[in-house]
Amino acid sequence: MNVKVAKTAGFCFGVKRAVDTVYSETQKGGNIYTFGPIIHNDFVVSDLEKKGVKVINDITELWNVPSGTVIIRSHGVSKETYEAIIASGHKVVDATCPFVKKIHNVVAKESTEGKRIVVIGDPDHPEVKGIVGWCAYGGSTTVIRDENDAARFEGDRNIEITAVSQTTFRAAKYKDLVEILQKKGYNVNVVNTICNATTDRQEEARKIASSVDMMIVIGDSKSSNSQKLYEICSRECKCTKFVQTRDNLETDPTGSLQSVGITAGASTPKNIIEEVQNYVRINF
Ligand code: F3S
Repeated sequence: MNVKVAKTAGFCFGVKRAVDTVYSETQKGGNIYTFGPIIHNDFVVSDLEKKGVKVINDITELWNVPSGTVIIRSHGVSKETYEAIIASGHKVVDATCPFVKKIHNVVAKESTEGKRIVVIGDPDHPEVKGIVGWCAYGGSTTVIRDENDAARFEGDRNIEITAVSQTTFRAAKYKDLVEILQKKGYNVNVVNTICNATTDRQEEARKIASSVDMMIVIGDSKSSNSQKLYEICSRECKCTKFVQTRDNLETDPTGSLQSVGITAGASTPKNIIEEVQNYVRINF
């Protein structure tokens, strides 16, 4: 059996850094809180819970818990939320991914200088909400998700626009949406804020899936990047399985597999990837 495991499977740099930060804070003792689940992975979140880490979902919850350390996850938070966490009196450890932090700094500076900010991405995603929250004049910031939003965009054409995108946005679509604004006569300064971790993982998964008899995508059912990997792999390999752990795997479903590929979403820990890999090598 030839087993190909994607080199890019699992945690990206920013997620690893955030998860490592929480584990390292638990070593120091005291009450540890994460502002939202640190990642979309039930196993990691419940493992941290066993170590006493509590997930906080709302600022008001922070007012009613014993003093401790609040860790901000890799998606980041808005300036208002950041300041509210500090004002709650707890110690703050900011594990915002540096690539996301860079976007916060860009929009804060450019909006203060009078540019209009356009954020290309999903308006409901926490990363995008956080970015909007660092714009000096939040009300004049627009989030554009798709072609319809771009076509509807209206504003003063004499004001320069600074465009940034959600880190996981598709580069080609970012370019297309900006072009719609430019064709409407807007002066757009485009900042490349796309993180390659996602596209590299997707591209490697696609290549492996196109060359194996069976492809396994490991991820949490709530993880959208894992679902996206599944979609990409399914297009290349008819026998693609989505699993959360090795417990979801049967033995060789066809009885004639010669090669199996394995990849995993950005919130899948290394030990789960290794367990699946070992299971396949032993049982398939
Ligand atoms: Fe950061 Fe890129 Fe991951 S922005 S959180 S390294 S996907």
